Amino acid sequence: MNWSTRNLKVNWHPYTQMKDCENDPPVVLEKAVGLKLIDENQHYYYDTVSSWWCNILGHSHPKITEAIHRQLKDFGHVMFGGFTHKPAITLSEKLVEITPSNCERIFYSDNGSTAIEVALKMSIQYWQHKGKENKNKFISFDGAYHGDTIGAMSVSGTDLFHSTFHAVCFENFKTPTVSITDPNYDQNEAKAIAAFKTLLKTHHHEIAGFVFEPLVMGAGGMIHTKPSFLKQLAALCKEYNIHTIADEIATGFGRTGTLFACEQASINPDFLCLSKALTNGTLPLAVTCTSSEIYNAFYADYNEHKTFYHGHTFTANALGCAIANETLSILETENLVQNSRHIESYLRESTDSLRSLSCISNLRFKGSTLAFELKNPVTNKAFTSEKRIGYQLFKIGKKHHVILRPLGNTGYLYLPIVCSKEEVQQIVSHTYESLVELEHELKNR
Ligand SMILES: Cc1ncc(COP(=O)(O)O)c(C=O)c1O
Repeated sequence: MNWSTRNLKVNWHPYTQMKDCENDPPVVLEKAVGLKLIDENQHYYYDTVSSWWCNILGHSHPKITEAIHRQLKDFGHVMFGGFTHKPAITLSEKLVEITPSNCERIFYSDNGSTAIEVALKMSIQYWQHKGKENKNKFISFDGAYHGDTIGAMSVSGTDLFHSTFHAVCFENFKTPTVSITDPNYDQNEAKAIAAFKTLLKTHHHEIAGFVFEPLVMGAGGMIHTKPSFLKQLAALCKEYNIHTIADEIATGFGRTGTLFACEQASINPDFLCLSKALTNGTLPLAVTCTSSEIYNAFYADYNEHKTFYHGHTFTANALGCAIANETLSILETENLVQNSRHIESYLRESTDSLRSLSCISNLRFKGSTLAFELKNPVTNKAFTSEKRIGYQLFKIGKKHHVILRPLGNTGYLYLPIVCSKEEVQQIVSHTYESLVELEHELKNR
Protein backbone atom coordinates (compact mmCIF):
# COMPACT_ATOMS: atom_id res chain seq x y z
CA MET A 1 0.00 0.00 0.00
CA ASN A 2 1.41 3.43 -0.86
CA TRP A 3 1.63 6.30 1.64
CA SER A 4 -1.36 8.13 0.21
CA THR A 5 -3.61 5.08 0.59
CA ARG A 6 -2.30 4.42 4.08
CA ASN A 7 -3.00 8.06 4.96
CA LEU A 8 -6.61 7.86 3.82
CA LYS A 9 -7.17 4.70 5.81
CA VAL A 10 -6.35 6.33 9.15
CA ASN A 11 -6.21 10.13 9.03
CA TRP A 12 -8.94 12.75 9.19
CA HIS A 13 -7.67 16.09 7.84
CA PRO A 14 -8.76 19.50 9.17
CA TYR A 15 -11.24 21.65 7.22
CA THR A 16 -11.55 18.80 4.73
CA GLN A 17 -14.49 16.88 3.31
CA MET A 18 -12.70 13.56 3.35
CA LYS A 19 -14.79 12.26 0.45
CA ASP A 20 -13.01 14.80 -1.79
CA CYS A 21 -9.76 13.01 -0.99
CA GLU A 22 -10.82 9.96 -2.98
CA ASN A 23 -10.14 11.91 -6.19
CA ASP A 24 -7.78 14.51 -4.81
CA PRO A 25 -5.79 13.01 -1.94
CA PRO A 26 -3.53 15.14 0.28
CA VAL A 27 -0.04 15.45 -1.18
CA VAL A 28 2.50 13.25 0.56
CA LEU A 29 5.38 15.54 1.42
CA GLU A 30 8.88 14.30 1.89
CA LYS A 31 10.88 17.42 2.58
CA ALA A 32 10.52 21.14 3.12
CA VAL A 33 13.53 23.34 2.47
CA GLY A 34 13.56 27.13 2.31
CA LEU A 35 10.47 28.31 0.44
CA LYS A 36 9.70 24.93 -1.08
CA LEU A 37 7.75 21.85 -0.07
CA ILE A 38 8.81 18.74 -1.98
CA ASP A 39 6.55 15.74 -2.43
CA GLU A 40 7.36 12.04 -2.80
CA ASN A 41 7.53 12.44 -6.60
CA GLN A 42 9.98 15.35 -6.26
CA HIS A 43 7.38 17.85 -7.45
CA TYR A 44 7.86 21.13 -5.55
CA TYR A 45 5.41 23.72 -4.25
CA TYR A 46 6.35 27.21 -3.15
CA ASP A 47 4.96 27.56 0.36
CA THR A 48 2.94 30.58 -0.66
CA VAL A 49 0.74 30.36 2.43
CA SER A 50 3.68 30.03 4.85
CA SER A 51 2.19 26.71 6.07
CA TRP A 52 -0.94 28.32 7.46
CA TRP A 53 0.73 31.68 8.00
CA CYS A 54 3.46 30.43 10.36
CA ASN A 55 6.60 30.00 8.38
CA ILE A 56 8.30 33.37 8.05
CA LEU A 57 11.93 32.21 7.68
CA GLY A 58 11.55 29.29 5.30
CA HIS A 59 11.68 25.60 6.19
CA SER A 60 14.50 23.58 7.71
CA HIS A 61 16.36 26.74 8.67
CA PRO A 62 19.79 25.52 9.87
CA LYS A 63 19.86 27.89 12.85
CA ILE A 64 16.42 26.70 14.02
CA THR A 65 17.49 23.07 13.65
CA GLU A 66 20.62 23.82 15.63
CA ALA A 67 18.57 25.57 18.35
CA ILE A 68 16.36 22.47 18.78
CA HIS A 69 19.37 20.20 19.05
CA ARG A 70 21.03 22.51 21.56
CA GLN A 71 17.96 22.56 23.78
CA LEU A 72 17.27 18.86 23.39
CA LYS A 73 20.65 18.08 24.91
CA ASP A 74 19.33 19.57 28.18
CA PHE A 75 15.65 18.59 28.04
CA GLY A 76 12.62 18.77 25.74
CA HIS A 77 9.68 19.54 27.96
CA VAL A 78 9.16 20.01 31.68
CA MET A 79 6.09 21.23 33.50
CA PHE A 80 5.84 24.98 34.03
CA GLY A 81 4.06 24.75 37.40
CA GLY A 82 6.55 24.95 40.24
CA PHE A 83 9.40 24.94 37.71
CA THR A 84 10.75 27.34 35.14
CA HIS A 85 13.62 27.32 32.65
CA LYS A 86 16.06 29.60 30.88
CA PRO A 87 14.53 29.41 27.38
CA ALA A 88 11.15 30.67 28.72
CA ILE A 89 12.74 33.39 30.86
CA THR A 90 14.86 34.65 27.96
CA LEU A 91 11.91 34.55 25.59
CA SER A 92 9.59 36.43 27.96
CA GLU A 93 12.24 39.10 28.55
CA LYS A 94 12.63 39.54 24.80
CA LEU A 95 8.88 39.65 24.20
CA VAL A 96 8.43 42.29 26.91
CA GLU A 97 11.16 44.32 25.20
CA ILE A 98 9.79 44.16 21.65
CA THR A 99 6.00 44.21 22.11
CA PRO A 100 3.98 47.41 22.76
CA SER A 101 4.73 48.92 26.17
CA ASN A 102 1.59 47.59 27.94
CA CYS A 103 2.86 44.04 27.41
CA GLU A 104 4.79 43.39 30.59
CA ARG A 105 3.71 39.85 31.54
CA ILE A 106 3.77 36.73 29.40
CA PHE A 107 1.39 33.79 29.84
CA TYR A 108 2.22 30.73 27.73
CA SER A 109 -0.05 28.28 25.96
CA ASP A 110 0.32 26.19 22.84
CA ASN A 111 -1.77 27.48 19.94
CA GLY A 112 -3.63 30.52 18.70
CA SER A 113 -7.04 29.49 20.00
CA THR A 114 -5.71 28.89 23.51
CA ALA A 115 -3.95 32.26 23.50
CA ILE A 116 -7.35 33.83 22.81
CA GLU A 117 -9.10 31.73 25.47
CA VAL A 118 -6.50 32.90 28.00
CA ALA A 119 -7.08 36.56 27.12
CA LEU A 120 -10.87 36.20 27.37
CA LYS A 121 -10.69 34.42 30.72
CA MET A 122 -8.12 36.83 32.16
CA SER A 123 -10.24 39.77 31.08
CA ILE A 124 -13.40 38.35 32.69
CA GLN A 125 -11.59 37.46 35.90
CA TYR A 126 -9.91 40.87 36.04
CA TRP A 127 -13.30 42.58 36.03
CA GLN A 128 -14.51 40.20 38.76
CA HIS A 129 -11.57 41.22 40.90
CA LYS A 130 -12.54 44.83 40.31
CA GLY A 131 -16.10 44.12 41.51
CA LYS A 132 -17.59 44.37 37.99
CA GLU A 133 -18.92 40.83 37.57
CA ASN A 134 -21.32 41.92 34.83
CA LYS A 135 -18.46 42.79 32.51
CA ASN A 136 -18.23 39.34 30.93
CA LYS A 137 -19.13 39.79 27.25
CA PHE A 138 -16.94 40.69 24.31
CA ILE A 139 -17.19 42.65 21.09
CA SER A 140 -15.66 41.37 17.89
CA PHE A 141 -15.88 42.22 14.21
CA ASP A 142 -18.33 40.71 11.77
CA GLY A 143 -16.16 38.31 9.79
CA ALA A 144 -13.54 37.94 12.53
CA TYR A 145 -11.69 34.67 13.05
CA HIS A 146 -10.07 33.95 16.40
CA GLY A 147 -9.86 30.16 16.46
CA ASP A 148 -11.89 26.98 16.70
CA THR A 149 -12.30 26.32 20.44
CA ILE A 150 -15.67 27.26 21.92
CA GLY A 151 -14.57 30.59 23.42
CA ALA A 152 -12.60 31.59 20.34
CA MET A 153 -15.54 30.61 18.13
CA SER A 154 -17.85 32.70 20.28
CA VAL A 155 -15.89 35.84 19.47
CA SER A 156 -15.53 34.94 15.80
CA GLY A 157 -17.87 35.86 12.98
CA THR A 158 -17.00 33.35 10.29
CA ASP A 159 -20.12 31.29 9.60
CA LEU A 160 -18.43 28.74 7.36
CA PHE A 161 -16.30 27.59 10.26
CA HIS A 162 -18.61 28.08 13.19
CA SER A 163 -22.34 28.30 12.37
CA THR A 164 -22.82 24.58 13.18
CA PHE A 165 -21.82 25.29 16.77
CA HIS A 166 -23.80 28.45 17.27
CA ALA A 167 -25.99 26.93 19.99
CA VAL A 168 -23.05 26.21 22.29
CA CYS A 169 -21.21 29.50 21.76
CA PHE A 170 -21.67 32.25 24.33
CA GLU A 171 -23.45 35.47 23.58
CA ASN A 172 -21.40 38.40 22.33
CA PHE A 173 -21.63 41.64 20.47
CA LYS A 174 -20.65 41.99 16.84
CA THR A 175 -19.59 45.22 15.23
CA PRO A 176 -19.11 46.10 11.55
CA THR A 177 -15.69 46.41 9.99
CA VAL A 178 -14.74 48.35 6.86
CA SER A 179 -12.48 46.99 4.17
CA ILE A 180 -10.05 49.38 2.51
CA THR A 181 -11.49 48.19 -0.82
CA ASP A 182 -14.99 49.37 0.08
CA PRO A 183 -16.05 51.85 -2.65
CA ASN A 184 -18.03 53.82 -0.01
CA TYR A 185 -15.22 53.71 2.49
CA ASP A 186 -15.64 57.07 4.22
CA GLN A 187 -19.37 56.73 4.66
CA ASN A 188 -19.13 53.15 5.94
CA GLU A 189 -16.26 53.92 8.27
CA ALA A 190 -18.30 56.71 9.84
CA LYS A 191 -21.24 54.32 10.22
CA ALA A 192 -19.05 51.59 11.75
CA ILE A 193 -17.54 53.98 14.29
CA ALA A 194 -20.98 55.34 15.18
CA ALA A 195 -22.32 51.79 15.66
CA PHE A 196 -19.35 50.91 17.86
CA LYS A 197 -19.85 54.03 19.94
CA THR A 198 -23.55 53.31 20.44
CA LEU A 199 -22.75 49.74 21.47
CA LEU A 200 -20.23 50.91 24.04
CA LYS A 201 -22.48 53.66 25.35
CA THR A 202 -25.38 51.25 25.85
CA HIS A 203 -23.57 48.11 26.99
CA HIS A 204 -20.18 49.10 28.43
CA HIS A 205 -21.21 47.84 31.87
CA GLU A 206 -21.45 44.28 30.51
CA ILE A 207 -18.51 44.37 28.06
CA ALA A 208 -15.15 43.05 29.21
CA GLY A 209 -13.16 43.53 26.03
CA PHE A 210 -12.94 44.12 22.30
CA VAL A 211 -11.12 41.39 20.35
CA PHE A 212 -9.76 42.24 16.92
CA GLU A 213 -7.25 41.21 14.28
CA PRO A 214 -5.35 44.41 13.48
CA LEU A 215 -4.96 45.46 9.81
CA VAL A 216 -5.50 42.05 8.19
CA MET A 217 -8.53 39.96 9.14
CA GLY A 218 -7.32 36.61 7.86
CA ALA A 219 -9.67 33.64 7.69
CA GLY A 220 -12.73 35.90 7.39
CA GLY A 221 -11.53 36.84 3.88
CA MET A 222 -8.25 38.77 4.13
CA ILE A 223 -10.12 41.97 4.91
CA HIS A 224 -7.65 44.84 5.14
CA THR A 225 -8.56 47.59 7.59
CA LYS A 226 -7.13 51.07 8.06
CA PRO A 227 -4.91 51.83 11.05
CA SER A 228 -6.81 55.09 11.64
CA PHE A 229 -10.11 53.18 11.91
CA LEU A 230 -8.73 50.77 14.50
CA LYS A 231 -7.11 53.61 16.39
CA GLN A 232 -10.48 55.30 16.82
CA LEU A 233 -12.11 52.09 18.07
CA ALA A 234 -9.28 51.49 20.54
CA ALA A 235 -9.63 55.05 21.84
CA LEU A 236 -13.34 54.47 22.43
CA CYS A 237 -12.53 51.28 24.36
CA LYS A 238 -10.25 53.29 26.61
CA GLU A 239 -12.92 55.91 27.13
CA TYR A 240 -15.49 53.26 28.14
CA ASN A 241 -13.14 51.07 30.21
CA ILE A 242 -13.11 48.11 27.87
CA HIS A 243 -10.02 45.92 27.34
CA THR A 244 -8.43 45.86 23.91
CA ILE A 245 -7.41 42.33 22.92
CA ALA A 246 -5.21 42.36 19.84
CA ASP A 247 -5.13 39.04 18.04
CA GLU A 248 -1.79 39.14 16.22
CA ILE A 249 -1.61 35.38 15.90
CA ALA A 250 -1.47 35.77 12.11
CA THR A 251 -0.16 39.34 11.76
CA GLY A 252 2.64 39.27 14.33
CA PHE A 253 6.38 39.14 13.65
CA GLY A 254 6.77 41.33 10.61
CA ARG A 255 3.94 40.03 8.50
CA THR A 256 2.36 43.43 7.83
CA GLY A 257 5.58 45.42 7.43
CA THR A 258 6.07 46.27 11.11
CA LEU A 259 6.99 43.85 13.87
CA PHE A 260 3.38 44.02 15.12
CA ALA A 261 0.41 45.40 13.20
CA CYS A 262 -0.74 47.34 16.29
CA GLU A 263 2.26 49.63 15.89
CA GLN A 264 0.82 51.06 12.66
CA ALA A 265 -2.38 52.01 14.49
CA SER A 266 -0.48 53.23 17.59
CA ILE A 267 -2.48 50.77 19.68
CA ASN A 268 -1.03 49.68 22.99
CA PRO A 269 -3.37 46.74 23.75
CA ASP A 270 -4.31 45.35 27.16
CA PHE A 271 -3.77 41.87 25.74
CA LEU A 272 -1.67 40.79 22.79
CA CYS A 273 -2.07 37.20 21.53
CA LEU A 274 0.79 35.69 19.52
CA SER A 275 1.53 32.26 18.06
CA LYS A 276 2.23 30.88 14.54
CA ALA A 277 5.44 32.72 13.46
CA LEU A 278 6.65 32.89 17.06
CA THR A 279 8.45 29.58 16.43
CA ASN A 280 8.54 29.99 12.66
CA GLY A 281 5.78 27.37 12.83
CA THR A 282 8.29 24.71 13.85
CA LEU A 283 6.62 23.78 17.14
CA PRO A 284 3.29 24.80 18.65
CA LEU A 285 3.69 27.69 21.08
CA ALA A 286 1.58 30.71 21.94
CA VAL A 287 1.63 33.63 24.34
CA THR A 288 -0.89 36.02 25.79
CA CYS A 289 0.95 39.19 26.77
CA THR A 290 -0.68 41.57 29.22
CA SER A 291 -0.07 44.61 31.37
CA SER A 292 1.14 44.98 34.95
CA GLU A 293 -2.23 46.56 35.71
CA ILE A 294 -4.03 43.32 34.78
CA TYR A 295 -1.38 41.13 36.42
CA ASN A 296 -1.54 43.07 39.67
CA ALA A 297 -5.30 42.54 39.92
CA PHE A 298 -4.58 38.81 40.35
CA TYR A 299 -1.65 39.25 42.73
CA ALA A 300 -2.87 38.63 46.29
CA ASP A 301 -2.72 36.34 49.28
CA TYR A 302 -3.78 32.83 48.30
CA ASN A 303 -6.94 32.88 50.37
CA GLU A 304 -8.25 35.89 48.49
CA HIS A 305 -8.92 33.38 45.65
CA LYS A 306 -7.49 35.54 42.91
CA THR A 307 -5.30 32.87 41.29
CA PHE A 308 -5.68 32.46 37.54
CA TYR A 309 -6.65 28.79 37.34
CA HIS A 310 -5.77 28.10 33.76
CA GLY A 311 -2.95 26.15 32.16
CA HIS A 312 -2.01 23.59 29.55
CA THR A 313 0.21 20.54 29.75
CA PHE A 314 2.61 21.96 27.18
CA THR A 315 2.75 25.45 28.66
CA ALA A 316 6.11 27.06 27.80
CA ASN A 317 7.44 23.95 26.09
CA ALA A 318 11.20 24.38 26.29
CA LEU A 319 11.93 23.32 22.73
CA GLY A 320 9.29 25.77 21.50
CA CYS A 321 10.79 28.56 23.60
CA ALA A 322 14.32 27.78 22.36
CA ILE A 323 13.13 27.94 18.76
CA ALA A 324 11.22 31.16 19.43
CA ASN A 325 14.37 32.74 20.85
CA GLU A 326 16.24 31.77 17.70
CA THR A 327 13.42 32.99 15.45
CA LEU A 328 13.42 36.42 17.12
CA SER A 329 17.18 36.61 16.90
CA ILE A 330 17.12 35.84 13.14
CA LEU A 331 14.32 38.36 12.59
CA GLU A 332 16.42 41.05 14.21
CA THR A 333 19.87 40.26 12.83
CA GLU A 334 18.66 39.75 9.27
CA ASN A 335 16.46 42.84 9.29
CA LEU A 336 13.50 40.83 8.08
CA VAL A 337 10.75 43.21 9.13
CA GLN A 338 12.20 45.66 6.66
CA ASN A 339 12.30 42.90 4.05
CA SER A 340 8.58 42.35 4.58
CA ARG A 341 8.08 45.98 3.47
CA HIS A 342 10.31 45.31 0.46
CA ILE A 343 8.19 42.28 -0.38
CA GLU A 344 5.13 44.52 -0.48
CA SER A 345 6.91 46.72 -3.05
CA TYR A 346 7.99 43.68 -5.10
CA LEU A 347 4.43 42.38 -5.04
CA ARG A 348 3.02 45.74 -6.09
CA GLU A 349 5.59 46.01 -8.91
CA SER A 350 5.13 42.50 -10.27
CA THR A 351 1.36 42.10 -10.24
CA ASP A 352 0.39 44.09 -13.35
CA SER A 353 -0.16 40.72 -15.04
CA LEU A 354 -2.75 39.80 -12.40
CA ARG A 355 -4.62 43.06 -12.97
CA SER A 356 -5.12 42.10 -16.61
CA LEU A 357 -7.16 39.03 -15.61
CA SER A 358 -10.93 39.18 -15.66
CA CYS A 359 -11.41 36.48 -13.00
CA ILE A 360 -10.08 38.60 -10.14
CA SER A 361 -10.80 41.97 -8.55
CA ASN A 362 -9.97 44.01 -5.43
CA LEU A 363 -6.26 43.26 -5.42
CA ARG A 364 -4.78 44.47 -2.13
CA PHE A 365 -1.39 44.34 -0.43
CA LYS A 366 -0.06 44.41 3.11
CA GLY A 367 3.57 43.55 3.91
CA SER A 368 4.33 40.06 2.66
CA THR A 369 0.69 39.35 1.80
CA LEU A 370 -1.64 40.05 -1.06
CA ALA A 371 -5.28 39.16 -1.55
CA PHE A 372 -7.92 39.34 -4.29
CA GLU A 373 -11.49 38.31 -4.94
CA LEU A 374 -12.28 35.63 -7.50
CA LYS A 375 -15.15 36.49 -9.81
CA ASN A 376 -16.88 35.02 -12.80
CA PRO A 377 -15.04 36.41 -15.87
CA VAL A 378 -18.19 36.13 -17.96
CA THR A 379 -20.80 37.65 -15.64
CA ASN A 380 -18.38 39.69 -13.47
CA LYS A 381 -20.27 38.43 -10.43
CA ALA A 382 -19.02 36.64 -7.32
CA PHE A 383 -19.28 32.85 -7.32
CA THR A 384 -21.75 31.06 -5.10
CA SER A 385 -20.15 28.71 -2.58
CA GLU A 386 -21.48 25.61 -4.43
CA LYS A 387 -19.15 26.43 -7.29
CA ARG A 388 -16.20 25.73 -4.98
CA ILE A 389 -14.05 28.02 -7.05
CA GLY A 390 -11.34 28.16 -4.41
CA TYR A 391 -11.00 24.41 -4.42
CA GLN A 392 -10.60 24.47 -8.21
CA LEU A 393 -7.86 27.06 -7.96
CA PHE A 394 -6.10 25.02 -5.26
CA LYS A 395 -5.97 22.01 -7.59
CA ILE A 396 -4.70 24.10 -10.51
CA GLY A 397 -2.13 25.92 -8.35
CA LYS A 398 -0.52 22.67 -7.27
CA LYS A 399 0.32 21.88 -10.91
CA HIS A 400 1.97 25.31 -11.21
CA HIS A 401 4.10 24.98 -8.06
CA VAL A 402 2.06 27.33 -5.86
CA ILE A 403 -0.27 26.71 -2.94
CA LEU A 404 -3.37 28.80 -3.56
CA ARG A 405 -5.97 27.91 -0.94
CA PRO A 406 -8.63 30.60 -1.26
CA LEU A 407 -10.91 31.35 1.67
CA GLY A 408 -14.26 31.12 -0.10
CA ASN A 409 -13.81 33.47 -3.07
CA THR A 410 -10.79 35.22 -1.57
CA GLY A 411 -7.47 34.21 -3.06
CA TYR A 412 -4.27 35.22 -1.36
CA LEU A 413 -0.51 34.91 -0.97
CA TYR A 414 0.96 34.93 2.52
CA LEU A 415 4.67 34.78 1.80
CA PRO A 416 7.55 33.99 4.14
CA ILE A 417 9.22 37.30 4.92
CA VAL A 418 12.59 36.05 3.74
CA CYS A 419 11.48 36.07 0.08
CA SER A 420 13.84 37.80 -2.34
CA LYS A 421 12.68 39.94 -5.25
CA GLU A 422 13.36 37.10 -7.71
CA GLU A 423 11.38 34.62 -5.60
CA VAL A 424 8.43 37.01 -5.36
CA GLN A 425 8.50 37.46 -9.14
CA GLN A 426 8.65 33.70 -9.69
CA ILE A 427 5.73 33.09 -7.31
CA VAL A 428 3.62 35.83 -8.90
CA SER A 429 4.37 34.38 -12.31
CA HIS A 430 3.19 30.90 -11.20
CA THR A 431 0.12 32.46 -9.60
CA TYR A 432 -0.65 34.24 -12.87
CA GLU A 433 -0.31 30.97 -14.84
CA SER A 434 -2.70 29.28 -12.41
CA LEU A 435 -5.26 32.06 -12.70
CA VAL A 436 -4.99 32.06 -16.51
CA GLU A 437 -5.81 28.35 -16.48
CA LEU A 438 -8.73 28.93 -14.12
CA GLU A 439 -10.03 31.78 -16.28
CA HIS A 440 -9.73 29.64 -19.40
CA GLU A 441 -11.72 26.81 -17.76
CA LEU A 442 -14.38 29.22 -16.58
CA LYS A 443 -14.78 30.86 -19.98
CA ASN A 444 -14.99 27.55 -21.79
CA ARG A 445 -17.48 25.83 -19.57
C1 LIG B 1 -6.07 35.61 13.65
C2 LIG B 1 -6.12 34.21 14.17
N1 LIG B 1 -6.45 34.00 15.44
C3 LIG B 1 -6.48 32.75 15.96
C4 LIG B 1 -6.18 31.66 15.20
C5 LIG B 1 -6.25 30.29 15.80
O1 LIG B 1 -4.99 29.72 15.87
P1 LIG B 1 -4.82 28.14 16.01
O2 LIG B 1 -5.22 27.56 14.70
O3 LIG B 1 -3.37 27.96 16.30
O4 LIG B 1 -5.68 27.69 17.13
C6 LIG B 1 -5.84 31.84 13.85
C7 LIG B 1 -5.54 30.68 12.99
O5 LIG B 1 -5.45 30.76 11.80
C8 LIG B 1 -5.81 33.15 13.33
O6 LIG B 1 -5.52 33.38 12.05
